[in-house]
Amino acid sequence: MGKPLLRRIAEEVLGEEKARNVWKRIEIIGDIAVIRKSFTISVDELKPLAEKLLQVIPHVRSVWCGVSEVKGEFRVRDYVHLAGEPRSETIYREHGCLFKLDIRKVYISPRLNYEHKRIALKVKPGEVIVNMFAGVGLFSIIIAKYSKPKKVYSIDINPDAYYYMVENVKLNKVEEIVEPILGDAALVIKDRLRNVADRVLMPLPGLSYEYLEYAVMALKPGWPRYIHVYDFTFAGPGEDPEEKVKQKFAGKLREIVPRYEIEFSRIVRMVGPRRYQVVLDIVVEKPH
Ligand SMILES: C[S@@+](CC[C@H](N)C(=O)[O-])C[C@H]1O[C@@H](n2cnc3c(N)ncnc32)[C@H](O)[C@@H]1O
Repeated sequence: MGKPLLRRIAEEVLGEEKARNVWKRIEIIGDIAVIRKSFTISVDELKPLAEKLLQVIPHVRSVWCGVSEVKGEFRVRDYVHLAGEPRSETIYREHGCLFKLDIRKVYISPRLNYEHKRIALKVKPGEVIVNMFAGVGLFSIIIAKYSKPKKVYSIDINPDAYYYMVENVKLNKVEEIVEPILGDAALVIKDRLRNVADRVLMPLPGLSYEYLEYAVMALKPGWPRYIHVYDFTFAGPGEDPEEKVKQKFAGKLREIVPRYEIEFSRIVRMVGPRRYQVVLDIVVEKPH
């Protein structure tokens, strides 16, 4: 296999040594390209590379550099503008749906695209779903488009994510199905979404373990009910990341539900050296 596109262009523009400080992966979100770099190269040194990317990648109008990890409650990254239009709002397309968003204000990761469709295809007609950490609505809207849920309650605590989710629900014409809700998922469920759901989505590694009891609270009594949890874990040599996450959640599930099965797990992606994002599809019985 040849070198990745970004590495090839970076070597051409910056020379081989400096090019090593640019991450191999480029992320294209709508008409915005995002690159990342190590601390050893300055943002200004990347500008000629960004100009070249504008020329060679069709449809890209703006190039940004991600200069922090995804951080804080809203899971947003810091960016510095490199080239092209100084605009961070765009329309991202996934699985035939449109998502308006601002990369500087909301979470977005094209790397979740397989998960969005995988979960959508699990949903059965007539289901009621609670998406506890919905962002700008990717899981919720793709589910509404591909399956025939009765209702998707779609919660996010970030006012900007909520604003774009409302826009995206209109853009994709799923107003009858997806209901955006602004707030803390725990409070929203306690106040108004107890015993309503067939299925709960928890796409926020880092909070899914702590909020598991609220996912169960949202479920209708009975069996089978479904929870999809996302979590991060470190796995050293010889350790299995999926097993680690299963054991962690099994401990808590034993305490809060009478019966459960972890019916599927997979590594969604690597998020650092030996650090993995893992998803568990869990079937639970919600007591009456
Ligand atoms: C990883 S992002 C969600 C990604 C989204 N599901 C997608 O597929 O693009 C996590 C989201 O959870 C939201 N969030 C964080 N804490 C929350 C809470 N307590 N209640 C509801 N939403 C929360 C953040 O604002 C963020 O938009």
